[in-house]
Amino acid sequence: MHKSKTILDFQRMKEAGEKIAVLTCYDYPTAAIMDGCGIDMILIGDSAGVVVAGYDNTLPVTMEEMIYHTRAVMRARPKAFVVTDLPFLSYQVDLRDARLNAGRLIKEGGAAAVKLEGGSNVADTIAALTDMDIPVMGHIGLTPQSLHRMGGFKVQGKSEEQAEKLLEDARAVERAGAFSVVLEGIPAPLAARISAELAIPTIGIGAGPSCDGQVLVIHDILGLCSKYSPKFVKRYAELAPLIGEAVSSYISDVKTGAFPEERHSFK
Ligand code: KIV
Repeated sequence: MHKSKTILDFQRMKEAGEKIAVLTCYDYPTAAIMDGCGIDMILIGDSAGVVVAGYDNTLPVTMEEMIYHTRAVMRARPKAFVVTDLPFLSYQVDLRDARLNAGRLIKEGGAAAVKLEGGSNVADTIAALTDMDIPVMGHIGLTPQSLHRMGGFKVQGKSEEQAEKLLEDARAVERAGAFSVVLEGIPAPLAARISAELAIPTIGIGAGPSCDGQVLVIHDILGLCSKYSPKFVKRYAELAPLIGEAVSSYISDVKTGAFPEERHSFK
């Protein structure tokens, strides 16, 4: 039987002190590879807008794009738990929009849960979605959809006052019913404090080693995106030059007639 991970597994992992490994993914072949490696959770992040579509930030990403990427990933029939981001403007205007759009990611996309950005300000939205049995992942700290309010992609929660506010946001997200929360771009000691206080698992990105799990963008760990490389990223491969070499060899083979050979042709 095809048995995928559920939110119960993540709660159990937190209680057992077992770390949760999460990666972003946006397409079928990558989903099949990472699922075969045993990734715990796949996040179809709205970072797709930056690393796949080439936008400058995540703000232009649409529901249609998120559904497209989710469906592509789901065709790999992953055993990992699949969460899809609600893009900017799909949940902030009113609860009806939020319910309909979260429902679409589950019904049309096939995701098992949705993620949205914000703390106390989105607690009602998290409660409304969990109330319709859609598991919700929170996301606090450096929230890329708040780029213009933050004045850039800056580490959040550095002052005592900001740290208290983030702690309050984390509590609000948990109280509202989220099954997990992403902590992005916050000081490691603050992430440790939040992770110790919350009963739900915290998933860190640029938030130090004490979170219950870690998430990174797949293009970043594979060295596919040369646009930027934040300090918190660990690159496990440098694929961009490898792809460049392969493409250059192909171009040269076509130009010189070295490709196709007889074995690539039909009789
Ligand atoms: O959009 C995304 O990929 C994310 C993760 C980096 C947490 O939100």
